[in-house]
Amino acid sequence: MRVTIFGTGYVGLVTGTCLADVGHDVVCVDIDQAKVDGLNRGVIPIYEPGLEPMVKANHAAGRLTFTTDAPSAIAHGDIIFIAVGTPPDEDGSADLKYVLAVARTIGGHLERGVVVVNKSTVPVGTADKVRQTIAGELAARGVDVAFDVVSNPEFLKEGDAVNDCMRPDRIIVGASSQQAIDRLKRLYAPFNRNHERIVVMDVRSAELTKYAANAMLATKISFMNEIANIAERVGADVEMVRQGIGSDPRIGWHFIYPGAGYGGSCFPKDVQALARTSQQHGYRAELLGAVESVNERQKGHLFELIERHYGGSIAGRTFAVWGLAFKPNTDDMREASSRRLLQQLWDAGARVRAYDPEATEEAQRIFGEREDLVLCDSARAALADADALVVVTEWKQFRSPDFQRLRQSLTDAVIFDGRNLYHPDEVEAAGLAYYGIGRGRSIQSH
Ligand code: UDX
Repeated sequence: MRVTIFGTGYVGLVTGTCLADVGHDVVCVDIDQAKVDGLNRGVIPIYEPGLEPMVKANHAAGRLTFTTDAPSAIAHGDIIFIAVGTPPDEDGSADLKYVLAVARTIGGHLERGVVVVNKSTVPVGTADKVRQTIAGELAARGVDVAFDVVSNPEFLKEGDAVNDCMRPDRIIVGASSQQAIDRLKRLYAPFNRNHERIVVMDVRSAELTKYAANAMLATKISFMNEIANIAERVGADVEMVRQGIGSDPRIGWHFIYPGAGYGGSCFPKDVQALARTSQQHGYRAELLGAVESVNERQKGHLFELIERHYGGSIAGRTFAVWGLAFKPNTDDMREASSRRLLQQLWDAGARVRAYDPEATEEAQRIFGEREDLVLCDSARAALADADALVVVTEWKQFRSPDFQRLRQSLTDAVIFDGRNLYHPDEVEAAGLAYYGIGRGRSIQSH
């Protein structure tokens, strides 16, 4: 099928590439000429495992092209995706200016019947706004073509996005016309083998499903962080508690890892946006507010542990920081817990030597040159002249360090483990002090 995708950001690029990979003829549109030129040369603007070779192969095969020419792209697609950003407004609600700008462009050039698909995460009711915007433009041009607007939210995880897209556990299609449903079923048929993954529903339920999924996952994380903070005070170990509850299938093993707080482009933004939508409809969503405030507090927790260890005298010390990205396998630092930690350390007069396998360039861009930050090119280099080690992102390569060597490198022989990668007994047996998240047993011994 012929597919057009507006937006070559994370969602648009991954979706377009996967659709091309199963044989569709995909044109991706972006307003950023440099990005489009780069993509046509095989330069991928994001780090995502497996994506680059797929983009190159499908581009070479002629199934995936990138352009800034919106009118010809609109003429190309039987299905037109909107996959542009929805950054948070000042009040936390999703800003629809990019989505509606694309809708105006579509309405300004459409000459034949198409299905317009909202892939961006947008508040309930946006599909109606997109429909009205396109209809308004068509009316202004005096053109009469039939079109449908469908909600088809994405559930990609950064770092595993290609896999999520190629092997989705569900495909949500929110539509009111049978013709649109049939067209999306044809589009997704290659991803819908062996058992039915397509869940058809009305447009508003589909829009809410996306927020509900992310809010539920964020809730699980904040819940565990809350339990971790209780564990710390009562002298229990949250890692034991996690194992004790995860075995109950009603709770499950996923997303119950306590840590330095959730970050990224989705959870913080979507929890806030859902709370805001709910408020606009006259309902105060108590739980969502708590999920967010627990997370905000949690992002400051590593620093609290550091302050506690040093009795508040942090000025002049040097901290090795392992991990800057908001999670492993990405270079994304949006809302990353590392950003809060580094700022707190700097405000307290400390220096930072940081290492991240992928996010160095991004960190350089965000922080610029500063004398209290050295971005190192290996985990070991970050340890040089450091007083203590703080682990913020659970990259695989940080999982089993040589604790003896760490003890020799770190002047104060102490580890602050923001992702509970290590076992307190093992670290302490090597002669280091250990602080994890919610590990009351070891914390109370300091
Ligand atoms: C998330 C959703 O998983 C995905 O379905 C949706 O489409 C977009 O938002 P993503 O933001 O890429 O994906 O990251 P995810 O792997 O979900 O992690 C989000 C954050 O939660 C990370 O900062 C991670 O460290 C944290 N996290 C996750 C925890 O602190 N504990 C956990 O148990 C799981």
